[in-house]
Amino acid sequence: MLWIKAFHILFVMSWFAGLFYLPRILVNLAMENETSATERLLLMARKLYRFMTILAVPAIALGLYLWLVIGIGKGPGNGWLHGKLTCVILLIGYHHACGSLLKKFEQGKNKRSHVWFRWFNEVPVVLLAIVLILVVVKPF
Ligand code: HEM
Repeated sequence: MLWIKAFHILFVMSWFAGLFYLPRILVNLAMENETSATERLLLMARKLYRFMTILAVPAIALGLYLWLVIGIGKGPGNGWLHGKLTCVILLIGYHHACGSLLKKFEQGKNKRSHVWFRWFNEVPVVLLAIVLILVVVKPF
């Protein structure tokens, strides 16, 4: 079980590297006017989005394994996992939103300012803090 949990945390951390860095690239894209710099940022963002999508799969699959196969968090008194799963669904939505916003930049249709993307960039920080408190402290 501990091997599964170790790899769960490893893939979660790798997924979060993308969830933290891709919005940062979007902040730069929203400020950039020079064509070759924009092309370079778009290439970086595309590769990163593909990579973080691949990493999200084992991160979530191993979490589901810990829950549904090993049985951690099953049964009454495990409200922490319900709260955690709600955050995970929001994180998957955020991941998907990053892809849609990147597509808008690729089509040259982005209307949002770099300030908006700076606030957008804070969302995974808040969700990560909530998930870690829920899964480590298990407050309810
Ligand atoms: C569907 C998605 C997920 C499920 C079903 C899931 C389920 C679980 C379960 C059952 C454990 C074992 C808890 C224990 O041993 O006390 C665990 C551990 C952990 N999970 Fe997840 N998880 C998921 C996604 C995530 C995500 C997205 C994060 C980070 C944001 C995360 C962070 C952690 C951490 C840090 C631990 C280790 C906690 C500890 O050892 O005290 N998990 N997860």
